[in-house]
Amino acid sequence: MTILAIETSCDETAIALVEASGGLRAPKFKIIKNLVASQIKIHQPFGGVVPNLAKREHIRSLPILLKKLAASGYKINPDIIGVTVGPGLEPALWTGINFAQELYREVKSKKLKVKSLLLGVSHLDGHLFSFLLSQKTKRQNLFPAIALIVSGGHTILIKMDSLAKIKILGETVDDAVGEAFDKVARLLDLLYPGGPEIEKLAKKGNPNAIPFPRPMLGQKNYNFSFSGLKTSVLYYLRDNKNTKKADVAASFQKSAFDVLIKKTLRAVDEYKAKSIMVSGGVSANKTLAKEFKLAIKNQFTNSSIHHRPILAVTKFPTDNAAMIASAVYINHLRKKKYKLEANGNLSI
Ligand code: KG4
Ligand code: ZN
Repeated sequence: MTILAIETSCDETAIALVEASGGLRAPKFKIIKNLVASQIKIHQPFGGVVPNLAKREHIRSLPILLKKLAASGYKINPDIIGVTVGPGLEPALWTGINFAQELYREVKSKKLKVKSLLLGVSHLDGHLFSFLLSQKTKRQNLFPAIALIVSGGHTILIKMDSLAKIKILGETVDDAVGEAFDKVARLLDLLYPGGPEIEKLAKKGNPNAIPFPRPMLGQKNYNFSFSGLKTSVLYYLRDNKNTKKADVAASFQKSAFDVLIKKTLRAVDEYKAKSIMVSGGVSANKTLAKEFKLAIKNQFTNSSIHHRPILAVTKFPTDNAAMIASAVYINHLRKKKYKLEANGNLSI
């Protein structure tokens, strides 16, 4: 079936057209078009996303992206129109929902597809299922799996027994890890969004230079906390005016990743997971994947407990609509429904 997906939860306006098949046992996706209009340049002078500007830009960009899609020769007659209904900025979410509703009416009025559907979806499901867009491994070899979503708004550890059986093990009690990257970047006078900037600067620094704390690592639960780490960076910079910024970036990044990786691997161990799926904007960070691989090798080579888990880092880390289409398909199959109204605090 053809899915047209719309994403406007934050500062990326995105529309994708995706062909989905295979059902829950062997889902397969062919991305026909994956269009993203980034608003980064507009929000950059403010050091973060300004909700009203985001809303205005979504309203401006959505018809442009749809026109672009139509201009590349594809008929807009999807079986399902899917739209992100949360979590995110509610005024921004509504622009996507309203646009999806209009488009749905148009498709219906042309009677192009008699049985076409309009479905809401959680942005987090989008990140979670994004690994399916490029997945080569046979699905039955992946479960049980541990999934880690690391974005600007969320840090969530999830246990997946199958695509339909999903349980949250833990999440951040304060700032999300991407948010911590953005805030630390601001302390270091780097541009928004801070993640890519910190990654770049960290390459020139020593990750062992400053012993920043590893928040909640000692606790037995699967929750995270990153606001204290950000405050430690703030105090360190205040008290060490001549410090090398690259060392601060590298040491902060190492602290944050250490906690993410150790807690994830602890869950892998506890639940005998066969794979680890990492998604969300922060998973664009190449050092995170490298550190994950190293830790998996160290912890699971010669391990008699169970074999080494597969690491699947999504190929679609930052916000896009192809991932929304993947979630629309899986949710449709597992009969998971969301209300068609913006919900800033929606979960999985
Ligand atoms: O998933 P995403 O695009 O949007 C949300 O759902 O929040 O994630 C954006 C977040 C931002 O905080 C950004 O700084 C972070 O992902 N990010 C990165 C990298 N690229 C984006 N963090 C660390 N390293 C990166 N390379
Ligand atoms: Zn996101």
